[in-house]
Amino acid sequence: MSAAAPQHTDETPAFNGQPPADFPIDRSLKIYEETLKDEFTNNVINAMGPATAPRTREIFTSLIRHLHAFAREVNLLTPEWFYGINQLNKMGQMSDEKRNEAVLVSDVVGLEALVDHITQAHILHTSHGATPSAILGPFYRENSPRYPNGGDIVQKHFEGEETALVHGRVIDIHTKQPLAGVTIEVWHTAPNGLYEQQDPEQPEFNLRGTVVSDEDGRYAFKCLKPTSYPIPYDGPAGDILQAQGRHPMRPGHIHWRVTKPGYGSLITQIYDRQDKYTYNDSVFGVKDELVVDFVECKTGEAKWELVYDITLSLDKETAKLQGL
Ligand SMILES: [Fe+2]
Repeated sequence: MSAAAPQHTDETPAFNGQPPADFPIDRSLKIYEETLKDEFTNNVINAMGPATAPRTREIFTSLIRHLHAFAREVNLLTPEWFYGINQLNKMGQMSDEKRNEAVLVSDVVGLEALVDHITQAHILHTSHGATPSAILGPFYRENSPRYPNGGDIVQKHFEGEETALVHGRVIDIHTKQPLAGVTIEVWHTAPNGLYEQQDPEQPEFNLRGTVVSDEDGRYAFKCLKPTSYPIPYDGPAGDILQAQGRHPMRPGHIHWRVTKPGYGSLITQIYDRQDKYTYNDSVFGVKDELVVDFVECKTGEAKWELVYDITLSLDKETAKLQGL
């Protein structure tokens, strides 16, 4: 199979938006001899114009090569390809400000977790010992309510809920000093397994909140001990799980986004060691370093207590990789 590469001309319309920024890190692209010999695939790759940015060219070269190799390996047929195209369309149609189906699909095939591992490996080069990152997931919302330290992010209570006090310090990995003024956003599901934006019965921003570390780097908030829940499985992500005979459950977890003005963000999650899905996560997001132990709260402020220190790297190169 072969076809001539379309010629790039000055009239070729520009992309909408900028190509992704490049980062000054070492990368190596594995090039397979046999695919280099394929004229059709090479023609598609060579259709890229001379102005294509180096990183954009590297990504598309590899993406086209692997997509073509995949289609050949499984003998992909037109009805199967069209089913996949329809699923991609459905992902977009189901997504809005409150739901991100593309992230969910990426999660159930392990892609977001893999990309997080790759990014984390680069971060650890300069910031060994920093609190590991984890996947963002599809349910982050900006501008959650600001609470004073020790504030309670629970706006609606549920029968059988178990309250928790979470507190600790934010430390700079390089200076070992406490970090004041660090913004900590947290969010988790209600005991019914739903984030507030999925559940019309919950108040806006229930179980979401923002606290800021004090001059000693200390922070605290009250929430619920997180419970395991199914990811939404009424769309393409659910279709994948069903086709593969898999469950949709995630272990109980709290999401974190930790930022300081002028720097990047730490996106992470903590997982309850006692949860039966902690080592059987439908989106492969758990890292050993992020598994925590809730202990009985002796002060009576809550049923459970979690002391969790966050070690942040505010190295500017690291911050660039942390993105969001
Ligand atoms: Fe989650």
